[in-house]
Amino acid sequence: MLTFLHISDTHISADPERHPAQHPNRGVESLLKTIDGLSFPVDFILHTGDVCAEPEAENYHQAREMLDRLEQPLYLLPGNHDSPRMMRDMLADGERRQVLGDDYRIINGYHLITVDISGADDPLTPTLPDGQIDHFAAQLSRTQGAPILVAAHHPFLRTGVPWIDDEARIQNGERLHELLAAQRERVAGVFFGQIHQVVTSFCDGITYNCCPSTWFNFTGYPGMELADADLDTPGGFNLVMIRENRTFVRRYSLPRLTE
Ligand SMILES: [Fe+2]
Repeated sequence: MLTFLHISDTHISADPERHPAQHPNRGVESLLKTIDGLSFPVDFILHTGDVCAEPEAENYHQAREMLDRLEQPLYLLPGNHDSPRMMRDMLADGERRQVLGDDYRIINGYHLITVDISGADDPLTPTLPDGQIDHFAAQLSRTQGAPILVAAHHPFLRTGVPWIDDEARIQNGERLHELLAAQRERVAGVFFGQIHQVVTSFCDGITYNCCPSTWFNFTGYPGMELADADLDTPGGFNLVMIRENRTFVRRYSLPRLTE
C-alpha cells in the first residue's frame, strides 16, 4: 500500500509584490501548516511542477527555506515556470528531496515513472521528441508486472476545454497514453498539475488526476479559449491512498492565510 500527497503549482516567489493580494507563498505556508497537522503518516509528497513562479535564484532560495520544513521525502518535477538546473542545484537534498526528470523510482513496490517537459521545444505546450517517448516505453517495460504510477507536469489527453487542450497540454500526450493503456491493469494513476484545478478523467482504463494549485486556481469549461481565474475555489492538494488495486484520491482545501 502507498499513501502520498500530491501537490502542484506552488509558484513560490521571493518578490513580495507578486500578486500581493494573494501571494503564492501564503498558499505554501498554509500547506506546510496543514501537512504538519495531519493525523496520519504519508510515504512521500509528490510535487508535479511550477515549484517557483519564475526561474530565478532568489525564488529557489525561498523555496528551499520553505520546503526544508517538510519532514516527508519529497519528489519534485520541473514545470514550465521552473529551471531544472536551479532545482537540482538548489533544491535537491539526497534521498530526502529529489528532483526528477525522465526518471524511475520504486517506492513500497510501486513503480513511479516521471515525464519531464523541460527539455521540450516549448515547455508550455510541449511536443515530446520520439526519443523521449521511446524512453518512457523503456521505463514502462522495466516495471515487469509491478503496479505503476506516472507523474508529469502537463495533462496528456484532450479534455474538450480549448485553452487546456491547445495551450497547456503535452501536444502528443496521446502517444504516452497508448503505451499506458496497453498496461492498464497495472496503472494505479497518472498525476499531473499545470492547469490549476481539480480534474479527474478516465480513458481506456487509465485514470488521470490533476490536483489544485496551492494558491490560485483556474476554471475549465467547454468552449473556453482562454484560462480564467476561479476565485471561489481555495488552494489545495490531494491525498492519494493506493490499496491493492484501488486508488482513492481526496481533495484537501487549504485555509486562506491573510496578513
Ligand atoms: Fe502553474
